[in-house]
Amino acid sequence: MTSLVAVGAQWGDEGKGKLVDWLAPRAQLVVRFQGGNNAGHTLVVDGEQTILHVVPAGVLNPATVNVIGPGVVVDPAGLLGELEALKQKGALRDPSRVRVSGRAHLILPWHTALDKAREEAARGRAIGTTGRGIGPAYEDKVARRGIRVADLLRPEALEEALGRIAEQKNFELEGYYHWAPVDSGQLYRQCLAWGRELEPYVDHTERTLEAALRDGKHLLFEGAQGTFLDIDHGTYPYVTSSNCVAGAVCAGAGIGPTRIDRVLGITKAYTTRVGGGPFPTEETGELGTKLRERGAEFGATTGRIRRCGWLDAVMLREAATVNGFTQLAINKLDVLSGMPELRIATAYRINGKLTEDFPMTLPEIEQAEPVYETLPGWDEDVTGARCYEDLPGDARRYVERVEALAGVPVEIVSIGPGRDATISRAEPFRAR
Ligand code: IMP
Repeated sequence: MTSLVAVGAQWGDEGKGKLVDWLAPRAQLVVRFQGGNNAGHTLVVDGEQTILHVVPAGVLNPATVNVIGPGVVVDPAGLLGELEALKQKGALRDPSRVRVSGRAHLILPWHTALDKAREEAARGRAIGTTGRGIGPAYEDKVARRGIRVADLLRPEALEEALGRIAEQKNFELEGYYHWAPVDSGQLYRQCLAWGRELEPYVDHTERTLEAALRDGKHLLFEGAQGTFLDIDHGTYPYVTSSNCVAGAVCAGAGIGPTRIDRVLGITKAYTTRVGGGPFPTEETGELGTKLRERGAEFGATTGRIRRCGWLDAVMLREAATVNGFTQLAINKLDVLSGMPELRIATAYRINGKLTEDFPMTLPEIEQAEPVYETLPGWDEDVTGARCYEDLPGDARRYVERVEALAGVPVEIVSIGPGRDATISRAEPFRAR
């Protein structure tokens, strides 16, 4: 029995979905523990693309059970839409393969409306959210006025709660932002319909996880977003509204820290960011465009273009520290083929001072000028490589330099979107 946590080491979009799908056949349970449908996990299986937002990326492996833990925020319409699409594909015949915590908080229409209204009003200071209502839903959870998945199955209490909360939300939406109010009666009827459809999936997921652990099964915890979007450890306030680091598994899924064996950090071979906020190694010119085009760097959730730049080892070291990485995966190494030379940031210069540590405050991160190390590129197409030795020498030197700079072994190298375009250097679920 091994529990492996897979989390992003950058600003999300590191390719967690592809790797979770690839890891899933080794695990019996795949578990989401934070975030919501702000995530966009792109899977390519037998040439067919599936984009998931809240359903765990293990779902295309028929032997897995996929759990949405209590730390996730659930948009019922979004979740039901994904489940329906999976059923249509024939990828989900048995509802017991998707388990949704009754304790997970709901994203309701006023959360998405408030998210968009606030971003619009913030103009130049906007976070650049996905507009999925994530922040407002987590706010209500922490303010102890949220409505949870299991509440959809208790009509009387639900009607009272919706009416009470609607008054407050509509006051803010109409009075402050001049947005259309939400009709609580209509929402109530909608919630009852959602409840009926979701009931077969609702579960006391902590019990399901405990039983799996007792039975000696492998558990895979699937992070969403990434370390630098974490509400505490990220580039605040340009972050999401949940903890995305590995430690969030305990609270967000309901298992103790003693049950976690391995933490896999996932990084791209370069860096991308969607939305606002500082990005020290960003390339806004020709090189950024080249990376974006070669790597098809467009958001899976919102379709926005992703900002692109060189790999940043200062960030990787910080991510290794706050997550306790035991192993690393490098994604999209193939995108770097054909670049005459490659750069990796190894330190920052901030107001003339050199530092190898990721700064504590936003102004320092904004002022950070990367100090680069240059490595030779390679011309060969690496997409056909199936073992580490198939990679050209300079590609291996790049991987090994990342490993040395991060202080964590690179055990997986991904060189294309398909399952087979994955090189593994060690058994990911081996016991510690
Ligand atoms: P929110 O999570 O929608 O509130 O957005 C907050 C910030 O996190 C914005 O910069 C988003 O672009 C970013 N973000 C949220 N989810 C993802 C993701 O899955 N990948 C990349 N960026 C994300």
